[in-house]
Amino acid sequence: MVAAVFALLVEGWLRAPAAAPPPTAPSPSVAAAVSALLLLAVASALLVSTLWPRASASSGGYPPNAGADEASRLIALEDKHGAHNYHPLPVVLSRGQGALVWDVGGKVHFDFLSAYSAVNQGHSHPRIISALVDQAKTLTLTSRAFHNDQLGEFCGFITSFFGYDKVLPMNSGVEAGETAVKLARKWAHFKKGVPDGTAKVIMAENNFWGRSIAACSSSSDPDCYKGYGPFTPGFELIPYNDTRALRELLEREGKSVAAFYVEPIQGEAGVVVPSPGYLAECKRLCAQHNVLLIADEIQTGLCRTGKMLCCEHDGVRPDVLVLGKALSGGTMPVSAVLADDGVMGVITPGTHGSTYGGNPLACRVAIEALKVLRDERLAERAEALGRMFRGACEQLERKYAWVECVRGRGLLNAIVISKHHPVSAMTICLRLADAGVLAKPTHDYIIRFAPPLVITERQMDDALRIIFAVFANSAKA
Ligand SMILES: *[C@@H]1O[C@H](CO)[C@@H](O)[C@H](O)[C@H]1NC(C)=O
Repeated sequence: MVAAVFALLVEGWLRAPAAAPPPTAPSPSVAAAVSALLLLAVASALLVSTLWPRASASSGGYPPNAGADEASRLIALEDKHGAHNYHPLPVVLSRGQGALVWDVGGKVHFDFLSAYSAVNQGHSHPRIISALVDQAKTLTLTSRAFHNDQLGEFCGFITSFFGYDKVLPMNSGVEAGETAVKLARKWAHFKKGVPDGTAKVIMAENNFWGRSIAACSSSSDPDCYKGYGPFTPGFELIPYNDTRALRELLEREGKSVAAFYVEPIQGEAGVVVPSPGYLAECKRLCAQHNVLLIADEIQTGLCRTGKMLCCEHDGVRPDVLVLGKALSGGTMPVSAVLADDGVMGVITPGTHGSTYGGNPLACRVAIEALKVLRDERLAERAEALGRMFRGACEQLERKYAWVECVRGRGLLNAIVISKHHPVSAMTICLRLADAGVLAKPTHDYIIRFAPPLVITERQMDDALRIIFAVFANSAKA
């Protein structure tokens, strides 16, 4: 049984490169030779997996238990010398390709987290890696004290790609969020006439946009803010998916409001999808009160939900667009804020910046990462495979009373388990990891499923088989 599942995984791995288009079309004779080799590889991989089920054909030469020992050693090192700001699953990964990752023991897993949607293009995408390596050998950082030959290309490319006048490049997602908040406050002061130091930014309850002091100050999650005060003022929280709350707040205080900052789907909150038309109504209300709509598309953007931007589902063009994560295909932190001149114009030399923001390495990688999303039609893949995933998982919902619902859009999905079920989301995730699917719980009873968008249909099928088997074994504690 283990060998059979493993054989499927190995097969999946061998198919993985097919997710990326071949650089050149091979001639028929080359193709024949390649398929013969592939057959041979499959046969030997099957043989190896039968004889040695815990180690894959690509194992780094570790015998089965050495992998577990090495994992324990590395986890202990991290635990002893690293701050305990995360609680990872006990899996130590050392390699990735497409939708698959390998642990230090050589065991292969389906990655159903994609580094919180940073790896939409798949691990080690050949085109992105080649741009990265090429640029790394040429020029990596100049600071913005000088121009570099990649920044202009990047600005031109990304603004025409998304249809905005200007871009402001940053690094991490939270920096882009901070940038958007600063931009909105400054715009409110200089363009809307809100007295300096009084502009408000509205956010939704259960938002998540990072760990900075401003992000903690605007969070409704005690894990995020407790102990970190004093907090920065100027944020107002309203319930998510509630246009009435937004309307009432804007009617009351609209004159001093700079922006409404919102995630088109709340990811960290447990993949909370608002009603159709929610964003469109938010945009209408914001326009009516001369308030900027800032869309935080760091997790939902870049094809994850079945469109290039999640806002497109509602036909909305935000005033300020915040991007990160998959903007580099998972190779390095790259983020950006896009807006038109009427807004971005308030930023003048010396008033905002970043040493690494707009560095040539990031610029080159980001252009390639965006081209891959477009060339491989990853939005359409996410849409189709998302339907397949939710369709299959709805069977779980029908079959088990403790599976409350399956929700999401494109390939950003979650399965919600009853809070009263004796098996926690964490336990199910540990079982999934054992069986070869890596997913992460959020809030004790929600499991997020977000594989790289390059996952093949066969791989999705194989992963679903594993998910079904684990759910079947999780009816009781
Ligand atoms: C969003 O609000 C609508 C209307 O108030 C409601 O029907 C829907 O269930 C809500 N969706 C979520 C995810 O809360």
